[in-house]
Amino acid sequence: MLADHVDSARSALPPAVWDYYSAGSGEETTLAEAEAAWRSYRLRPRVLHDVSDVDTGVTLLGTRVASPFVVAPMAFHALAHPDGECATVAGAGAAGSLTVVSTRASRTLEDIGAAATGPWWFQAYVMRDRGLTEALVQRAAAAGATAVVLTVDTPYVGRKHKVAGVRFAVPDDEYLVNLAQHLLPGAVGREAAEQDPSITPDVIGRLADVGGLPVLVKGVLRGDEAVRCLDAGAAGVVVSNHGGRQLDRGVPSALALPDVVQAVAGHAPVLVDGGIRTGLDALVALGLGADAVLVGRPLLWALATGGAGAVTAALDELTADLRHVLAVAGAARTADLDPSMVIRL
Ligand code: FNR
Repeated sequence: MLADHVDSARSALPPAVWDYYSAGSGEETTLAEAEAAWRSYRLRPRVLHDVSDVDTGVTLLGTRVASPFVVAPMAFHALAHPDGECATVAGAGAAGSLTVVSTRASRTLEDIGAAATGPWWFQAYVMRDRGLTEALVQRAAAAGATAVVLTVDTPYVGRKHKVAGVRFAVPDDEYLVNLAQHLLPGAVGREAAEQDPSITPDVIGRLADVGGLPVLVKGVLRGDEAVRCLDAGAAGVVVSNHGGRQLDRGVPSALALPDVVQAVAGHAPVLVDGGIRTGLDALVALGLGADAVLVGRPLLWALATGGAGAVTAALDELTADLRHVLAVAGAARTADLDPSMVIRL
């Protein structure tokens, strides 16, 4: 069970790592509300549709994946398991899932690309040293990434009271594993690699040109902002409040999703994350119009307790759960879901 991993991970991980992974920003209001927001919807099932053969697959920017559960980009998987992101990407591919690899990955993009058994995308932060970002995007493309996910909700890293200073406890060889080779000798690596708070939509087109890959924008919570990203060349958006780690009291992504879906109006894929824990959560998200869902912390808990195999098992469990609820709701495939099937309580 996914829930079992939480307790095992808590015992397995050093307390500072557990706090870093589990924390939200501020008073943790957004973190606390994320899961409940998905449960605030109710389903209007269909009946007498043939659901003897259910297909959970989705197509994302032309790539068919067997599962709509995508691994969310998260920093420093090596804090959870010695093989770090290499284990995650191998485990996710075996489950038919796509992985988004963080700029703050703790294994090299080349090693991750070699370990991948399925499709993966690269999550970019635009860093103060723009050349660093561009070099990483190009390396990711060369290593096999097929899209860039540009995270835009982090002009400054959210203040997490539980974890003051823990970021600096990440050893340099893991913090800078993808960056060191691009830094000038003597450069203060961590400052150059901080997020650039001055970025505006023109970075979207720039990154698309640099990497030759489609760019999705992650961290959008409003329809008008989603349109602004698409107008600037984004290939899609990810509705996200960063797992409650950035702006506290930010709206739950479950409540932000309908506005974004309506504004995007089918012109581009819309993905969503934050508090997705069950097949029913995904059913609601897909019903509301999401093309796929990202899952964060539960996969770190799996990685910490059982490496690649446990990541596969966790994703398989989510996909099997979704397959079951799709059938019971009267939908043989994800494309059969539509907003008429979901209402807010
Ligand atoms: C994150 N997240 C994140 N997002 C991103 O774009 N780049 C990153 O490097 C990170 N790092 C990161 C570290 C940790 C420990 C967590 C928990 C999260 C946010 C992540 O991609 C995603 O938006 C949320 O985690 C989704 O919420 P759940 O599933 O964790 O509730």
